[in-house]
Amino acid sequence: MSTRRQFRRPQNTGYLVGAILGLVCLLFLFWPSQESFHARGPMNAGHEKLKCAACHNQAPGSSRQQLQVNVRYLLGLRQTVADFGHQDVTNEVCLRCHERRNDRHPVYRFFEPRFKKAREAIQPQFCTSCHLEHTGRRVTVPSTGYCVNCHEKTKLKNDPISIPHERLIADKRWESCLGCHDFHGNHVMKTETAVDQAFPPETIRRYFAGGTSPYPKEKHQKAKEEVEDE
Ligand code: HEC
Ligand code: HEC
Ligand code: HEC
Ligand code: HEC
Ligand code: HEC
Repeated sequence: MSTRRQFRRPQNTGYLVGAILGLVCLLFLFWPSQESFHARGPMNAGHEKLKCAACHNQAPGSSRQQLQVNVRYLLGLRQTVADFGHQDVTNEVCLRCHERRNDRHPVYRFFEPRFKKAREAIQPQFCTSCHLEHTGRRVTVPSTGYCVNCHEKTKLKNDPISIPHERLIADKRWESCLGCHDFHGNHVMKTETAVDQAFPPETIRRYFAGGTSPYPKEKHQKAKEEVEDE
């Protein structure tokens, strides 16, 4: 009995110190302050000159109200956290500058029920699933062959390419797709028909990481550099 007590004391103290340290860390993490709004990492390719406010708007409510809401959340008295200082960066924020009338894969389509499986795998309904900001990269979807999530049944009537799509797909050559197609269809380009002329996967991976683009420079829709109501 007495030995048990001796054991429990230091353990309890350990828990308490741990809890206090944890709380301090949480407060530090969540503490709102406009002055200390530091970026998490380098801006993505093309975004080096953008102002923070191009994507981050002030969230509603004073800092103190937000703090109260979040403390209530931490105590289990509330279901959701409040946006601390800043609102989520939504598709709409990106589209204010990147509206592409003929996007062949517009994000809104992927909210449809038939894309449920794809949503679970790669969340294609959000720009930031594939372009996570503050990573210094251009495209952050982990695989260049993620087309597998939606194009397993793609078949062309008069397939013009040297190894028909059906064959490429049967052979699971998903890494080949971006070698001939861009994703949004915004580059002004003629689609290659010789599979051995496609950009190799390595070139696509370098481009994803922020390297030079293998696709032509000219675009159908140019990005805006600023939004009016920043
Ligand atoms: C092109 C849009 C864009 C620009 C410009 C931008 N950010 Fe971000 N930032 C994001 C996205 C996307 C996230 C991920 C969180 C989210 O989706 O809300 C993020 C997250 C953050 C976070 C983490 C907090 C959070 O809300 O999750 C901080 C801090 C941050 N950004 C600071 C900055 C600063 C400082 C600048 C200016 C130097 C800046 N950002 C410019 C898009 C942007
Ligand atoms: C204030 C306008 C603005 C906002 C908001 C903005 N961008 Fe950009 N973005 C640009 C500009 C300007 C460029 C550089 C020109 C270009 O490459 O088209 C660029 C470049 C890019 C590129 C690289 C393009 C390339 O060809 O190399 C990607 C990817 C991108 N933005 C995605 C996003 C996403 C995702 C969001 C939302 C999180 C976003 N942008 C928000 C203006 C913006
Ligand atoms: C499922 C993944 C995915 C999603 C979701 C996605 N992108 Fe992309 N994006 C890519 C890939 C892959 C490329 C490179 C191929 C290309 O240039 O089309 C790219 C290229 C780009 C480029 C450079 C080429 C261009 O079109 O000017 C911009 C800008 C861009 N994306 C913005 C966005 C915005 C804004 C959204 C949301 C409306 C978005 N992307 C959603 C995968 C995605
Ligand atoms: C989340 C689902 C989804 C993903 C992931 C996806 N696509 Fe698609 N793609 C579609 C849909 C939907 C269409 C429209 C045609 C249709 O209904 O089948 C389409 C159309 C296309 C077209 C024809 C566009 C046109 O205008 O004729 C090409 C080319 C294409 N996709 C290539 C790709 C490539 C390459 C990838 C991988 C980098 C990819 N797709 C990933 C859903 C997707
Ligand atoms: C050698 C280049 C090449 C490769 C590799 C390639 N495609 Fe294509 N793809 C084409 C051409 C050419 C067309 C004809 C239409 C056009 O000009 O865009 C086409 C058309 C398409 C279409 C439109 C189908 C329609 O009904 O109009 C889709 C979807 C598509 N490809 C998806 C893919 C996917 C997914 C992959 C990877 C498995 C892939 N492609 C690999 C060149 C290629």
